[in-house]
Amino acid sequence: MTVIKINAITVAPDSGDELAHRFAARAGAVDGQAGFEGFELMKPTDDRTTWLVVTRWSDEDSFQAWVNSPAFGHGHRSEAERSGQPAPAHVGVSSELWSYVSAGGSPA
Ligand code: HEM
Repeated sequence: MTVIKINAITVAPDSGDELAHRFAARAGAVDGQAGFEGFELMKPTDDRTTWLVVTRWSDEDSFQAWVNSPAFGHGHRSEAERSGQPAPAHVGVSSELWSYVSAGGSPA
């Protein structure tokens, strides 16, 4: 059964665009990972400062395998870090992992 893992990243009020920019620079980093079914970065349209990275996986084990893989660490390192330079400051001030499965609904 598909599992949905949501990383809820809270950013400083003016940092959202930079977060989106960093994700755009790393789009595709998870493609090809076993069990990965896609992700979407959700931007708040009210005055909240928590963005959601909604990822879908074919099962829990596939997600755990990715989170514990070198690919996860690599994908979360900036270009600067990868080339040995100091890491730019993180945009997020905190993050929280939420885990869901579908409990019903209606396909589009
Ligand atoms: C549910 C799965 C995921 C988890 C648990 C996770 C975990 C994290 C964590 C802990 C942060 C740090 C937030 C902070 O700065 O406080 C982060 C940031 C980030 N993640 Fe993920 N992530 C996930 C999925 C993804 C995916 C699918 C991508 C893109 C392919 C991605 C790309 C990024 C980027 C670009 C940042 C911003 C780093 C920065 O501030 O420079 N993440 N993630």
